Amino acid sequence: MDTDKLLAGMETAAREAGRIMLEADNIRASTTEKAGHANFVTSYDKRVQAYLFDALGKLLPEAKFIGEEDGADAFTDEDRRGFAFCVDPIDGTTNFVTGFRPSVTSIALLRDGAPYLGVVYNPYDDLMFTAARGKGAYCNGKRLRSSTEPLASSLVMFGTAAYNPELNARTFALCADYLPRCVDLRRTGSAAWDLCNLAMGTIGLFFEAKLQLWDFAAAGLIATEAGCRLTDLDGNPPAWDGPCPLLCASQGVAREDYLPRV
Ligand code: IPD
Ligand code: CA
Ligand code: CA
Repeated sequence: MDTDKLLAGMETAAREAGRIMLEADNIRASTTEKAGHANFVTSYDKRVQAYLFDALGKLLPEAKFIGEEDGADAFTDEDRRGFAFCVDPIDGTTNFVTGFRPSVTSIALLRDGAPYLGVVYNPYDDLMFTAARGKGAYCNGKRLRSSTEPLASSLVMFGTAAYNPELNARTFALCADYLPRCVDLRRTGSAAWDLCNLAMGTIGLFFEAKLQLWDFAAAGLIATEAGCRLTDLDGNPPAWDGPCPLLCASQGVAREDYLPRV
C-alpha cells in the first residue's frame, strides 16, 4: 500500500472536482430540494460525486464508497472492514447555490472504520488540505498547526444543523454559552471548511449539533493531525460510522473551557 501515491491520487481527484465546481453555471436552475429544511442538491453535486466514484474506484478498487448523494447516511458492518471512501462532493451546497464562498470537496479514506487519509479542496482559493493518520496535516504542502491561543482570545465557528429544526434550540443555547467565553462567533456554511480553519489556526473551536460522516471525516482528520481535539458534544470520540454531534478545538483551548456548559 503506497500511501503517498494514494493521497496524491485523491488530491488529483479533488482538483478535478474543484474544476467542475468552478465551471458551473446556471446553478439555481439545476437545484432541487431533498428532505429537511432548505436541503438543496444541484446537478453539480451529482456530477462531482459520479466523477469521484469513478476516479476513486480506479485508485483503490477494493475500497467501498459512501457518498452524500447516495442517500444512506451510516456505515454498514461491511463498510467498516478494510478501506472505504467517504465523500462529500460539495460541502456547502447552499453556499454553492447562492454564490456565498467557499464550498469545498471532501474525500476521506477510512481503514477498518477509522480515518486514514483526508483531502479537502477549496477551489476558489486553490487551497488543498491533506492529512495522513500519524503524519501531520498540510495545506498546499505547508505543515499546519492549530492555534495556541486560549478560548478567550479566539473565534468560535459553529454550524446550524439547519436540516434538523428540532436542534435549533440546542444550537442557539450553545451559541449563548460560547459567545461570552470567546472573541466572537462565525458561521461559514461548510463544516469541512470550518474544521480546516481550526487546522490553519484561524479559530479556536467549532461545534455543530449534528453532522454527517462525510461532512467531517476528511477535515476531522486534518484538524486532529494539526493538533486539535475532536469529540462529540459530551467529549466522547466520534464513532466514525454515521451522523454525530461534533466539537473540535485547537491545542490552545484549555480542557476546562472545551465542553459546553449548557
Ligand atoms: C452542510 C454544511 C453546513 C452544515 C450542515 C451540513 P452540505 O453540508 O457542512 O455547514 O451546517 O450541517 O449538512 O449539505 O452543504 O453538504
Ligand atoms: Ca456536507
Ligand atoms: Ca454536500
